[in-house]
Amino acid sequence: MQHCIRTCLLLTTIFIQSIYSQQFVVGCYFTNWAQHRNGLGRFLPSHIDPSLCTHLYYAFANIDMINRSPMPFEVNDVKPSPATAAVVASDISKPAGNGRLNGKPVVKTAPPMSMYEQFNILKYKNPQMKTLLSLGGASVNATQFRSVFEPDKTRREFIRNTIKYLRKYKFDGLDLDWEFPETENDRRIFSLLVRDYRSEFQNEAFLNDRPQLLLTAAVAAYRPKIEAGYDIKEVATYLDYINLMAYDYHGSWNSHIGFNSPLYARSSEKGDKRLLNQQATVDTWIDGGCPPSKLVLGLGMYGRTFKLKQKKNADTKPYGPSKGAGSPGNFTGSSGFLSYYEICDLIKKQKWHTEYDKEQQVPFAYKDDQWISYDNQQSIEKKCHYVAERRLAGAMIWSLDFDDFNGAFCGQGKYPLLTTVKKTLESLQGPTTPIRIHRTTQATISNDVQIPSQSSVLFFLNMFCLLFIRHFS
Ligand SMILES: *[C@@H]1O[C@H](CO)[C@@H](O)[C@H](O)[C@H]1NC(C)=O
Ligand SMILES: *[C@@H]1O[C@H](CO)[C@@H](O)[C@H](O)[C@H]1NC(C)=O
Repeated sequence: MQHCIRTCLLLTTIFIQSIYSQQFVVGCYFTNWAQHRNGLGRFLPSHIDPSLCTHLYYAFANIDMINRSPMPFEVNDVKPSPATAAVVASDISKPAGNGRLNGKPVVKTAPPMSMYEQFNILKYKNPQMKTLLSLGGASVNATQFRSVFEPDKTRREFIRNTIKYLRKYKFDGLDLDWEFPETENDRRIFSLLVRDYRSEFQNEAFLNDRPQLLLTAAVAAYRPKIEAGYDIKEVATYLDYINLMAYDYHGSWNSHIGFNSPLYARSSEKGDKRLLNQQATVDTWIDGGCPPSKLVLGLGMYGRTFKLKQKKNADTKPYGPSKGAGSPGNFTGSSGFLSYYEICDLIKKQKWHTEYDKEQQVPFAYKDDQWISYDNQQSIEKKCHYVAERRLAGAMIWSLDFDDFNGAFCGQGKYPLLTTVKKTLESLQGPTTPIRIHRTTQATISNDVQIPSQSSVLFFLNMFCLLFIRHFS
């Protein structure tokens, strides 16, 4: 009897501990087209540091409409290619004692492997990390999603083929990147889609006695788009995590300058403008019935850039006039957009003026007629605190290749922004940190409420169990 009680209590303690010591998610998106950038901008799976992420997403896979299956976008997703083989540092040969042959270092490359393989073997370095394949993205249009996923028969077929595909290439799950379901009918299709994926993943795991494949989705951030595209309660039931694409709130498509990914609204904003921030996105999903523990806040490792209307004495505050996109970056090459490392480079080498907006918790930089909204270590840290305050599942980054992954530009080491995400979230899940709840439903009023942390609850439960065990022994 005593033994039984003791075992029972121990198990309860372990169970409680396992819930409460749950880690924050750090989701990292890899993009298979960043391999085509030049020089220090080129990004391959070998650049990924698997110790920084809990979930790694491979963006993107395409939809094969004929065979009703996911399919690669890039030839070397599935075919080994010597051109993208990882350089193996420990293989650097040392002939003639100096490691050089004809004046050049001799560097061996690993045997050629496809990018899927290179990506999935990263799990050997971090066995807790999960890898997911992201299906869709901006270049797969809604017509393709509809035609495959609307009819019951093709949807089921596509789902069965997805399972085969994921297992074949050793992914641990699927991430749906339909950008975006927008009609009443899309909304219905999206719900059916996640419901059927979930039940097929469950069946497959049960029948083959394997860990169940994970199911996540990257979703819209703007409230009218969310309400049009998703039945929040329904999709939240079936998805493991919901990745909020909480960026691109403003960009060169506007006739004014504005922040790419502000945390809070601006006091001067009215009406729908108050929805253009991360807090409004999180509120929409939670108010719609999504448990906070499924929400993963997206963080942009990039900036949106603008050309100011006036060169001299320009209005450099949000909503000042803009006449289009800022100049393209030397590595990413598209107008209106710069990676974090390209922004660092400009700020450091060309002495740009930088400011930090306290109200919306993001930095901005400008010089002459160029204006950039971006994120830095300070804003990323703030946003991670917000993740903990709202008790969200964690944060995800878009994307690995936009951070200063080589540590060559910012002078902040490798992956300065992602490292800030990991360190900040780790410090907030620590066993002695009380979690502060910051009530921010009204931008102007905020009151901090100290609540007992999960860890102190755990502490008392543990004490109780120990005393109980003592008493009965
Ligand atoms: C959607 O993509 C398909 C396949 O790439 C293409 O044939 C079709 O024209 C596109 N439709 C729209 C509306 O862009
Ligand atoms: C691109 O490189 C040139 C030369 O180093 C530099 O002057 C220019 O500012 C860079 N442009 C951007 C957007 O980084």
